Amino acid sequence: MKPRSKGSDKGQTAQLSTSAGACDRDTSQADGGASDVPDSLGSKLPRSDVLLDIRHLSKTYVADNSRFGSKRSLVHAVSNVSFSIRPGETFGLVGESGCGKTTVGKMLVNLVRPTAGEIFFDGHNLLALKPAERKTYCRDIQLIFQDPYASLNPRMRVGDIIAEPMLTNKMLPKKQVEARVNELLEHVGLANYMRNRYPHEFSGGQRQRIGIARALALRPRFIVCDEPVSALDVSIQAQVLNLLDDLKEQFGLTYLFIAHGLNVVKHVSDQVGVMYLGKLFEVAPKHELYDRPLSPYTQALLSAIPTVERTKKRQRIILEGDVPSPIDPPPGCRFSSRCFAKVPLCDEVEPELLEVAPRHFCACHCVGARGVRGETP
Ligand SMILES: Nc1ncnc2c1ncn2[C@@H]1O[C@H](COP(=O)(O)OP(=O)(O)OP(=O)(O)O)[C@@H](O)[C@H]1O
Ligand code: SF4
Ligand SMILES: [Mg+2]
Repeated sequence: MKPRSKGSDKGQTAQLSTSAGACDRDTSQADGGASDVPDSLGSKLPRSDVLLDIRHLSKTYVADNSRFGSKRSLVHAVSNVSFSIRPGETFGLVGESGCGKTTVGKMLVNLVRPTAGEIFFDGHNLLALKPAERKTYCRDIQLIFQDPYASLNPRMRVGDIIAEPMLTNKMLPKKQVEARVNELLEHVGLANYMRNRYPHEFSGGQRQRIGIARALALRPRFIVCDEPVSALDVSIQAQVLNLLDDLKEQFGLTYLFIAHGLNVVKHVSDQVGVMYLGKLFEVAPKHELYDRPLSPYTQALLSAIPTVERTKKRQRIILEGDVPSPIDPPPGCRFSSRCFAKVPLCDEVEPELLEVAPRHFCACHCVGARGVRGETP
């Protein structure tokens, strides 16, 4: 990421000049009593300070194994996840493959219906809204996919791919859509003439730029970036991250940035959440989490980041064993089968995500009220 001063735009959401802009909406609509939305993690932020507030969100998929002679089983993909994001922030969500990151993102963009929990966006309880009302907010929350090739229709020209959401949502008169497509291509660093090409005529980095342009088409306020650079070369990763950073400033966007490891989110996030087997284990402002990781799982993830600074050399923590199945997660702490710091209680009682220091949340029996390890109950 290129260095830039971010201090001035924190906490602000630029007003987008759009006919579909949420700022024009009547916020007195049914919102499930959102007039005093507390931060789900208990930080007691005033409502205007929170754009997205997820409370106790869970998703259980039904895995149909009937062809193999066994019964239907339940996949506990996301269990009781709560966090909140302020306007203009980037929240980095990390965890190993299969821990439920994409499922969280899909629930936010209405691709997957949560089994339990609430999603407050700008104070409105999205899951309590009628489908027509929810549709309005769907425009505000868009998704950038992990695989830029699979997410673009190979039979459509790029101009049509970017125009499609605007035409479907009747956002602009047809005549203006072409100009808007050109504008979006410019925003993401592509030339206008490229609108007539097909996705296979682009490189991976360019295809991700097309995906970003499509996500921006409806002038969203919030974007779920689901591992947007993991399929790209390292040099191209930096370009796409810089582009996302520029667009965030330009359009006052707020991001949920999903990644596998803590190394990528370090450069883009304001807050970081660490997930393991469907649960949030730690949430903290970026510097707090990287300087003072409390959960043994976060410590293990951090120790895997290579560093060139001799003074900061960390001892690598190698986690033994595999991640347990989300079909039958272990009782007690879900990390207990691999944790190097476990105590007998860990196998019996599931730790709660508690605020152990200002804005620093951790789910671990061995982390005390002041965020000090070793204070076992
Ligand atoms: N439609 C589905 N039906 C059944 N199980 C599913 C479905 N979608 C996801 N899962 C399961 O839910 C769990 C979480 O999946 P998810 O895609 O959210 O993980 P992830 O953290 O995004 O993984 P990755 O980093 O590999 O993308 C996995 O065990 C996955 O197999
Ligand atoms: S609760 Fe126990 S098993 Fe879980 S992370 Fe903390 S010490 Fe490890
Ligand atoms: Mg995923």
